[in-house]
This record gives sequence, structure tokens and C-alpha cells, in this order.
Amino acid sequence: MIFYFSGTGNSYATARFLSDNLGEPIIDIAQVLQKNEVEYFLQENEKLGFVFPIYAWAPPKAVLDFIKKLILHSEKLPYTFGVCTCGGTAGNGMEVLEDALGKKGIILNSGYSVIMPDNYVVMFKVGSLAEQAEILEKARETMEHILNAVKQEKSGFFRVKKGKAAGLLTLAVNPAFQRFGTKTKPFHATGDCIGCGICEKVCTDHCIQLKDGIPRWIKQQCNMCLACINRCPQGAIQYGKKTKDRGQYVHPCWK
Ligand SMILES: Cc1cc2nc3c(=O)[nH]c(=O)nc-3n(C[C@H](O)[C@H](O)[C@H](O)COP(=O)(O)O)c2cc1C
Ligand code: SF4
Ligand code: SF4
Repeated sequence: MIFYFSGTGNSYATARFLSDNLGEPIIDIAQVLQKNEVEYFLQENEKLGFVFPIYAWAPPKAVLDFIKKLILHSEKLPYTFGVCTCGGTAGNGMEVLEDALGKKGIILNSGYSVIMPDNYVVMFKVGSLAEQAEILEKARETMEHILNAVKQEKSGFFRVKKGKAAGLLTLAVNPAFQRFGTKTKPFHATGDCIGCGICEKVCTDHCIQLKDGIPRWIKQQCNMCLACINRCPQGAIQYGKKTKDRGQYVHPCWK
């Protein structure tokens, strides 16, 4: 059973690849968390996986909230792996996952990172299509390595690109991001909005509602997955002035 969280498709594509090749079902954390579906039964020898993007050098809060609530039934401790997708470095994000699972009595046997195109348009411009294709090709190779390691049930095996000052970034910068970097107030739709409602549908936090054909953000803070900005067909959503001319990124599997 593979649980995934994804704003723009990178983590979904990774979870899908592993699911197809391992024959494990995949479950969307954003969807089940909303419905409070947190109780699961693992079959004999079924593996347990978590696939998610890195946000400010840690897993998304929704992933950690889900793990806190998770009620898992299995005859024996399952083989458990974590895969994070990120634009550059994961910091100690995998250690954060390991701690969260440890608190539930689940041992993280192996962990991996996959470098994929960066969707954080609040800070960075989206790369060209050629650059994206090159990164995705390498990502595919990384996924093959991960698949082999997971098939072999490698244990105590971690292949994560943590980057420099990983501990500091995860312990000090992530809490600041959670506090100040997830505010919805700067989100707005420009005059290019056609009221299609896609942003409302794709929001992983169910915090967008269309009123009179215009999206409104109904929570003060959100997951900051940036699905709304990146998946709007009109490119009509901006975050203050920061996202102007930064482009949009969506994994080809979600285009
Ligand atoms: C709010 C936010 C914070 C991010 N922080 C990081 C980071 O700390 N390190 C990194 O390498 N990539 C970071 N990224 C990039 C994403 O981790 C990366 O693009 C990921 O593959 C997106 O996955 P998804 O398409 O499944 O949503 C960040 C993206 C967002 C939206
Ligand atoms: S996805 Fe874009 S065009 Fe559609 S309602 Fe939202 S902001 Fe408007
Ligand atoms: S409002 Fe936008 S960034 Fe925030 S959770 Fe919803 S889709 Fe993601």
C-alpha cells in the first residue's frame, strides 16, 4: 500500500510507477485525510510506502498529520519505505518521516529522494521544457533504482540527497516556513480567470471556493502545494507579486 501526496504530479508519477511495478495500491493522502479515512488493513507481505514532495526541507504537514491519525492493521511489521521528490535537496526530511512513523511503532526500512522539476514558483522561475525533460529522464532512472531496492526489501538503506546544513534547514527554516510561508492572504485570481473551478477541485487542502465565479481562499493557511497556481489553465492565480512571470509547472502525467 503506497500513500502519496502531490500538488503538481511529481510525487504522484513516482508513486504510480512504484505501484504499477510492485502491484501495490496507491492512496491519495489529501483525499483520505479530508474524509478522515485513516484505518487500513495490510495483506500478508504487503509493503508500506510513503511518497511526498519536500516543502522547506521536510514532508508536507498534511503527510505528518495523516501519519499521526493512521490506524494500521497488519499481522507483522510491514517492510516500509519513503520516497521524497524535491527540486534540489531534501534536508533531513526523511528523518522527519522516520520519527513520525517511529511514534506509531512503524520502522522506516529505507528512504530515497528523487530530483524532479521544482514547482516552488513563489521563489523560482520554472525551467524550460527541455530542462524539465532532462530532469525527468534522470528521475526515471532514479525510480528504477528505488524499485530494485524496494523489491529486494533493503533495510537500513537510505539514498537521500540531503544537501548542506540539512539539520539546520529542517529544524530552523521549516518551522518558519510553516508559520509565515503558508499564509493564503497573498493568493488571488487575476482578470484572466474564466471561473472553470479547476483550482477548487485540485486544491489539496480544500480551501478554495468559487463565489460568483471567482476563487476565494477560505482558510488562513494551507498546504502550500501550489497546485492552484500551477494547474490553472489560464495562469490566472498569483501569490502577491512574487509569482508574476515565474511560469507554471505540472508533471506530464497530469497535463
Ligand atoms: C512550498 C514548497 C516548498 C518547497 N521546498 C523545497 C525544498 O526545501 N527543497 C527542494 O529541493 N524542493 C522544494 N520544493 C520543490 C518540490 O519539492 C518539488 O518540486 C516536488 O517534486 C513537487 O512535488 P509534487 O509535484 O508531487 O507536488 C518546494 C516546493 C514547494 C511548493
Ligand atoms: S483554475 Fe484558474 S481559471 Fe479556473 S476558476 Fe481557478 S483561477 Fe479561475
Ligand atoms: S490554496 Fe493552492 S497552494 Fe494552498 S493547498 Fe490549495 S492548491 Fe495548494
